[in-house]
Amino acid sequence: MDPVLEMRGISKRFPGVQALDNVDFKLYSGEITSIIGQNGAGKSTLMKILSGNYQKDAGTILIHGKEVEINNTADAARLGIGIVYQELSLLNNLTVAELSLIHI
Ligand SMILES: Nc1ncnc2c1ncn2[C@@H]1O[C@H](COP(=O)(O)OP(=O)(O)OP(=O)(O)O)[C@@H](O)[C@H]1O
Ligand SMILES: [Mg+2]
Repeated sequence: MDPVLEMRGISKRFPGVQALDNVDFKLYSGEITSIIGQNGAGKSTLMKILSGNYQKDAGTILIHGKEVEINNTADAARLGIGIVYQELSLLNNLTVAELSLIHI
């Protein structure tokens, strides 16, 4: 089965640090996937590229095998990609689903 989403050879450099160096990532339908790594490993940077918050220096993103350009959060939202940032305070009046909608 082909991946729903694929990131190939993603690289991103910030001044003084190579945050991502040729990273590959595949996501399959029906899967829940975790990205695990030490502080500063580049997890958030990868997700921010996917959600259009950061621009990659190199690499490609494919959805259902087709290359897509994600230049901003609106592009990502059109492709069905949203991000819920880690937030330490609880919002007792919202369900997880409602919170997700706000971020998309
Ligand atoms: N906007 C930015 N400007 C400069 N450097 C950044 C920026 N964002 C991230 N970095 C650097 O890129 C590297 C990867 O950071 P990132 O936040 O992606 O890691 P992380 O895996 O999400 O870490 P954590 O577990 O602490 O959330 C780190 O060295 C970080 O300092
Ligand atoms: Mg992070």
